[in-house]
Amino acid sequence: MMKVIAFLGSPRKDGNTDLLLKETVKGIKSFRLEVTIFNLNEMNIKPCQDCGGCDETGECIIDDDMSKIYQEIRKADRIILASPVFFFALSAQSKTMIDRCQSFWCEKYLLKKPITEGKYGRKGLLLLVGGMKKEVGVQCSEATAKAFFRTISVPEHKTLSFLGVDAKGAILKHPTALKDAFEAGKKLVRG
Ligand SMILES: Cc1cc2nc3c(=O)[nH]c(=O)nc-3n(C[C@H](O)[C@H](O)[C@H](O)COP(=O)(O)O)c2cc1C
Repeated sequence: MMKVIAFLGSPRKDGNTDLLLKETVKGIKSFRLEVTIFNLNEMNIKPCQDCGGCDETGECIIDDDMSKIYQEIRKADRIILASPVFFFALSAQSKTMIDRCQSFWCEKYLLKKPITEGKYGRKGLLLLVGGMKKEVGVQCSEATAKAFFRTISVPEHKTLSFLGVDAKGAILKHPTALKDAFEAGKKLVRG
């Protein structure tokens, strides 16, 4: 069965990113597939120390909640990153997890051992919500997310972004966001 994982990078429970991700998950579940969600804000993930510990092995030497995430990233066929825009970039929760994927970068580019794809291939989806109406937040987040996806050997991803959505739950009032997220979930697994 296709394995789908999702990273929630917002600290706000029932916030806009959370609500959007829930709709995407519903779209995926409509095909009777399960989604493993990692609520990054509740996990113990230390920032990358640039210690070089992964240079020759492709394995991070820090022992924390990333250990579980590393395994899941390896096995996943579909990977979703859902983040609010903070200071025109991905949230710190998202970025901290991404920086720790430096070990995959070493594995792929130094050791020349990219993660191998399964029979469904590897595809990604980026969900973004920003309170302001400034595209730069999406552009910066997109650049980082693209580097993340390629590093973990996800060669293609779609991006769904909503700007001008600020107050908690404001996404519920957006004319198309929830439907778009639901459809993006369906497309991710059956596109
Ligand atoms: C620390 C912080 C920084 C923010 N910076 C930006 C920003 O640079 N650009 C923007 O569009 N929105 C910014 N926002 C607004 C959030 O993107 C917006 O409120 C969003 O809906 C939050 O999503 P959530 O409900 O999933 O947490 C910021 C919010 C916080 C808390």
